[in-house]
This record gives sequence, C-alpha cells and structure tokens, in this order.
Amino acid sequence: MAIHNKSHSNSGLMQLNRMNKDNIKHKTSVDFAVPERTNCILLNKDCLDLLKSLPDDSIQLILIDPPYNLDLADWDTFDNYIDWAAEWLNESYRVLAKSGNMVIFGGTQFQDEKSGDLIEIIHYCRHHTKFRLVNTIVWYYKNGMSAHRYFANRHEEAIWLTKTDGYYFDLDSVRVPYGEKELEEALKDKRLNPESIRKGKNPTNVWEIGRLNGNSLERVGHPTQKPIEIMRRFVKALSYPDSIVLDFFAGSGTTGIACLEEKRNCIMCDKDEHSKIYFDKHISRLQTSLFYQPFIECDSLDLFFDGIKKRTKIPQYQVQVVNN
Ligand SMILES: C[S@@+](CC[C@H](N)C(=O)[O-])C[C@H]1O[C@@H](n2cnc3c(N)ncnc32)[C@H](O)[C@@H]1O
Repeated sequence: MAIHNKSHSNSGLMQLNRMNKDNIKHKTSVDFAVPERTNCILLNKDCLDLLKSLPDDSIQLILIDPPYNLDLADWDTFDNYIDWAAEWLNESYRVLAKSGNMVIFGGTQFQDEKSGDLIEIIHYCRHHTKFRLVNTIVWYYKNGMSAHRYFANRHEEAIWLTKTDGYYFDLDSVRVPYGEKELEEALKDKRLNPESIRKGKNPTNVWEIGRLNGNSLERVGHPTQKPIEIMRRFVKALSYPDSIVLDFFAGSGTTGIACLEEKRNCIMCDKDEHSKIYFDKHISRLQTSLFYQPFIECDSLDLFFDGIKKRTKIPQYQVQVVNN
C-alpha cells in the first residue's frame, strides 16, 4: 500500500503560505534594535542560585549543555539525576519569556538507570511541566571514535522546548542557500513559495557540523567544549539582537561567544572556577577575529540588567517569526 506523503498537504504550512502571499505577519513578530554594544556576564556559581535570582519571563533563549551523571568529571556525578534536573527545568520555565525557547543538548543512555539523559528530561517535561517540545535536532558529525560491538556513534541530539506556541523563530536567518541547479528545480515546484526559495533552504533538523578535534583552533581546554557554529545557529534562529540568552552550564562559555558575535546579551554561570580562564581564551581569539563586535563584560547582574534597560531601543527590523 502506498503511504500518502502528508508534508505537502500540511494545513499549518498552507496557512503560512497564504499569509506570506498576502504579506500578513505572524502574530509573534518582534520589533528589535541592533545595539552598539551587548552585555555579557559569567558568574562562578551553582545554576540554581543563579536561576532563583532571575526575574520571571526575562530570558528569550536558554541554551544549555548539561551534565548527565556519566562520571565524566567531578561535576558529572549525582545521586538522583532527575530530581536535580527537575529543579532547574522548573526554574527555567519560570524565567523564560512568553516568546522564549529552551535548547537542551544530550543523548540517550537507556540501559543505565542511574544516568540522566534526554529521554528522562523529555519524560519529566511531558508529565510535570507545561513546556512544549517543538523539535529534536540531530547534530551529525563525521569525525568520531571507532567501535566494534556497536555502530560507531556519529550524532548527538538537542531538544527545543518552548513556553507557549507564540515562540520566536527566525528561520530566514539560518536558511541554507540552494545550489544553482537545485534552485532552478525548486522554483518549478508550484507547491513551494518562490520568495522563500530565493531566501534559501530550511536547514532541517539534521545538522552536519564537525566536532572539535584535539588540535582545533577553537579549543580552549574545556573537556566537553561545543563548536561555536552549532550554538550560533540556535542563537540566530531562536533569539533576536539585544535579547537575553542564558547558559547556566556555561563550561568554556561557547554560548556567550556566539551571543557576542550575533549581538545578543548573555548571562552565564558555571560552578567550576576554571570557566573564566577558558572564557578569557575564547575572548582573546574573538578580539582578533572578523566576528568581533563591541561588548561590555559585567560583574554583577544589576549592572547587566540596568545596562540593557537604559539602551534606547529604536526598532529597525521586523522579523516574520514563523515561516515555511
Ligand atoms: C557539558 S559542560 C558544558 C560545556 C560547554 N557547552 C562548552 O561548550 O564549553 C557542563 C558544565 O556544567 C558545569 N556544571 C555542572 N553542574 C553545575 C551546576 N550545578 N551549576 C553550574 N554549573 C554546573 C560543569 O562545571 C561543566 O563545565
């Protein structure tokens, strides 16, 4: 029996196509101004202490790469993983703005009851919170360890949760350009919107981004450092210039670097004091790179929030938040 491909008769997609044609903005459009300088802060403290000090509805994007009780280091050992994770998940929901997004990196450790993993986190969110799961993103990489008793692993996952269905999403900022031939073919497809096609392809939820090798120039010494490129894609699509991004498991501060490059404000914390040393290394590299944008490194949350409040916001762009 042939199974009908429903992707082209998706009513949500058809509605968005109509809105596009009639030039109607999605209800969650956001006006924003690009600031001259953004603010960033990296605190040496426990994630729960930081979360409890943040106001309700104040954060546009929470982007975290948490420990999973895998005994990778002394920060990665817990007696009851999900009880601990529940505390930061509940606080995250409270501090997230109504248009806000939360991204949690992880994997699956199904056979090991003691460890935490994304399955445990999704189960907790589904049964005990009002978070909505929008996407699971597969981070695919070609470089990894070899294996003999199972298929060599070449991916990690991240889940994208939102507080409401009025979440901010700027697909245009992360579209992938079509090749010349592909573009010609896509423009012939009557089901697709030519205006969107010219802007590029939806990058889909499988992202091929290389892992950092031991000798990568990006490396600053943190054992589980993520590539800036993967953080940048989330920062661009799920937050807007001058909005606030939070990473309370900052590690080397990779999220902060993506935010500074993309003109977002960033609050970070890590309970390991070495974090600051790693972050300073990231900053020295950034200062000599093409991506450098001026920023202010704050030493208190009061200064961080005051600085943002004081900026005169002159709306410059309007982003159509949800698009096909
Ligand atoms: C997987 S690493 C993050 C790496 C980061 N994404 C990067 O690119 O460098 C997790 C970090 O969480 C920190 N951490 C663990 N438990 C914490 C807690 N309760 N509060 C704050 N930080 C914590 C660890 O010190 C570690 O640096």
